[in-house]
Amino acid sequence: MPELRLTDIDAIVFDAYGTLFDYASAAERCKAQLGADWQRFSDTWRRKQLEYTWLRSLMGRHTDFWQVTSESLDFAMAAINRQDPSLRALLMQQYLNLDAFPDAIAALKFFKGASTKVAILSNGTPSMLAAAVNSARLSRLLDHVLSVESVKTFKPHPSVYQLVIDQMKVTATRVCFVSSNGWDAIGAAAFGFRAVWVNRMNLPADELSVHPEMQLATLTDLVAMFQHA
Ligand code: 2OP
Repeated sequence: MPELRLTDIDAIVFDAYGTLFDYASAAERCKAQLGADWQRFSDTWRRKQLEYTWLRSLMGRHTDFWQVTSESLDFAMAAINRQDPSLRALLMQQYLNLDAFPDAIAALKFFKGASTKVAILSNGTPSMLAAAVNSARLSRLLDHVLSVESVKTFKPHPSVYQLVIDQMKVTATRVCFVSSNGWDAIGAAAFGFRAVWVNRMNLPADELSVHPEMQLATLTDLVAMFQHA
């Protein structure tokens, strides 16, 4: 398997939702109200959230990720015929303090201790990301938290990945970009980053002609690769 070494990169950049933060923890915390199908509800919410980012980008009708998250939640609640403003408010509130995956904290600690810049690049708004980072106590482990709001479009538009180059003053070929969203890892590879797909859900690869440089199961595997390379 190909390997990446710390000497190959100047920066490691992580996607936020699904990679560092467990978006499903929002619905999971409300499973008493949502019932046994909370996971399916969570999947619908996430799928629509992503669809809306792509559709808005294609239509040239950007709105921020908080709004997209809220509108996709409306769809998910309508899909289960649920009208419950207090549950809706609670679910949105959970999005501000999602659980960080245990392997995310360990990975950020490892890279912070190495001589590489560490960042997040996300669709999230600056305030959503600040809330999630602070509640998971990750801020001291990150050099940059970059939001698409600077360019007002969503991943995988190349202008989003360009933010890393412009704001971190690094060269694309010396950036390792890590995402659990296969399409995001593909967007990053198409842009020219060294892209790693952390395939947490063991999904088949998307067929978009471009492929991430490598596929790993967890962020623990990512750390192990850099430790042993
Ligand atoms: C993020 O940008 C795509 O949800 C993903 O954080």
